[in-house]
Amino acid sequence: MNDRTTTPPVLDVRDVTVRFAGLTALDSVSFTVVPGSVHALIGPNGAGKSTCFNVLSGLYRPASGSVRLGDTDLTSLAPHRIAALGIARTFQNIVTTEGTVGDNLMLGRHILSRAGFAASALRLPSAVREQREHLARAREIAELTGLGPHFDSPVALLSYGDRKRVEFARALCLEPTVLLLDEPVAGMNAAERARTADTIRAVRAELGLSVVLVEHDMGLVMRLADEVTVLDFGRVIAHGTPDEVRRDPEVLRAYLGTEATEEDAA
Ligand SMILES: Nc1ncnc2c1ncn2[C@@H]1O[C@H](COP(=O)(O)OP(=O)(O)OP(=O)(O)O)[C@@H](O)[C@H]1O
Ligand SMILES: [Mg+2]
Repeated sequence: MNDRTTTPPVLDVRDVTVRFAGLTALDSVSFTVVPGSVHALIGPNGAGKSTCFNVLSGLYRPASGSVRLGDTDLTSLAPHRIAALGIARTFQNIVTTEGTVGDNLMLGRHILSRAGFAASALRLPSAVREQREHLARAREIAELTGLGPHFDSPVALLSYGDRKRVEFARALCLEPTVLLLDEPVAGMNAAERARTADTIRAVRAELGLSVVLVEHDMGLVMRLADEVTVLDFGRVIAHGTPDEVRRDPEVLRAYLGTEATEEDAA
């Protein structure tokens, strides 16, 4: 019931500026996410990557600039409206610990429910049917993300890697056309990273959605991304294919500069 056969719309970020008292976290940032692509957003700590996701998902309103999804201007929409328009995200530091995997995925389906509260409470046939369809789809998404065998398990009993994948699967339950992943493999071991990379690939191929990927694991970025936008101190310093940005002198400077600072501090 939810297979997407159409291409996702273009996500266009234009001249977005975000300021926090005295700090410009994003300085006229522009990039375009090609439909169906994996677009990586990389940069040293504090570069503005999560801030950018907060703008894309409606948590922050930029001081200037715009975000468009196809013909729709998202810039001043509330987060639930943006989610309903097809942009789903995961958070950098949040891992679910409550309920079963199934419970968490059904929460993700909530925004798609057509049946009203009364119809659901009265268990009207239409509401029961809809609930059954949502459950079936949640199970499919669990299979796709490797969580099928854990569908009825409490999240608290899963490995860290699997718990992080619950977040990913929950975001997918919104049937997004654009999926924003903020450090999906942070804290994972090598085997978990490889599995998550496979899942991202599978999801993109099967669901045809666009993925915006924030990640510090450069190996993963280089393997998965079609295009890369590099931020440093809130500015776009490079853009191109993984190979192009890897050789870009500005990018090398930004990363080496960060390492030098970390060494100095140590
Ligand atoms: N709510 C906020 N209030 C004030 N400053 C903020 C806020 N959120 C972020 N910042 C600052 O904005 C800058 C960008 O932060 P952001 O979290 O977007 O970076 P990031 O690229 O995601 O970094 P990391 O790789 O460490 O997650 C940082 O200097 C950060 O301290
Ligand atoms: Mg961040």
